[in-house]
Amino acid sequence: MSTFTLTRRLPADATADALRADVREGLTADPKWLPPKWFYDARGSELFEEITRLPEYYPTRAEREILQARAAEIAAATGAATLIELGSGSSDKTRLLLDALLAAGTLKTYTPVDVSEAALQQAGEALLKEYPGLRVDALIGDFLGDLRVPGAEGPRLVAFLGGTLGNLLPAERARFLAAVRAGLAPGDALLIGTDLVKDEATLVAAYDDAAGVTAEFNKNVLHVINRELGADFDPGEFDHIALWDRQNEWIEMRLRARSHQTVKIPELDLAVTFEPGEEMRTEISAKFREEGLREELEAAGLDLRHWWTDTGGRFGLSLSVAR
Ligand code: SAH
Ligand code: AVI
Repeated sequence: MSTFTLTRRLPADATADALRADVREGLTADPKWLPPKWFYDARGSELFEEITRLPEYYPTRAEREILQARAAEIAAATGAATLIELGSGSSDKTRLLLDALLAAGTLKTYTPVDVSEAALQQAGEALLKEYPGLRVDALIGDFLGDLRVPGAEGPRLVAFLGGTLGNLLPAERARFLAAVRAGLAPGDALLIGTDLVKDEATLVAAYDDAAGVTAEFNKNVLHVINRELGADFDPGEFDHIALWDRQNEWIEMRLRARSHQTVKIPELDLAVTFEPGEEMRTEISAKFREEGLREELEAAGLDLRHWWTDTGGRFGLSLSVAR
């Protein structure tokens, strides 16, 4: 029989406290910034799913192509009894891994971990119907926080798909990879999807689509702050910006103030002034090269064993093993 449990890693007030601390830190900094994890309330998760279907947003299709070709190989190489997925969202592409691991006869438990309760709830209910016999133990939590999954039977496979590793700043990435490694036993595996460096026009179009869905996704963080902290951001007074930072090899999303404005955030007892044209960073999306990723994994105690790309060479999927 299949089961689905949804557990909150931290009490709801800890999440509210984290949002307050991040917004205070980011909006009192110069230049201002906000962390991307706050995009993903129920609406933000829906908008991300819409992004994955846009003609300009190739990463999801490219990663799916690789998983279709390699899932059986991944299942055979890992023999995973537990699949832990960080930032699982809709768990859509994950079904390819679940199918392969179930066909190989090793998988017992799938543990999706996400900050978005709405995404986990929806994915969990759908999986329960589709996979009789699978145990789904979902965790609402921050993958930058506590990464332990008590009682997870080995061998474990941790999946971090979609290119979400690229949304972490380089220092955050190093800490994150070390923390993932610390939660693995030698021989356990880590599967990471990474978008690759390519021409600027393709990259910018993927983050500034003609239909304006990514712009809406970007501005969603302002709606979240309004709702959760009683702020009075007018999202219409901000423009969506996506630019390619050639030196850092990342796409940077920003919100640019259209006018002079003072935003009140009563829950923080804070008023924040924006000058016309002032830009605030809301996300980076780093693009990778095989060698750079290999070095980052190596530094965290992980050996890169397989590196696969889609036929267009746009996206990379790496399978590494804990030393
Ligand atoms: N893996 C899916 C979804 C990617 S979107 C795919 O490949 O399509 C990024 C996901 O990570 C979202 O579901 C978001 O809610 C989640 N997320 C973002 N920051 C997070 C954090 N710090 N901790 C946990 N989940 C996070
Ligand atoms: C979740 N993450 C990998 C997406 C990305 O491509 O960096 C988030 C996103 N931001 C804008 N569009 C999609």
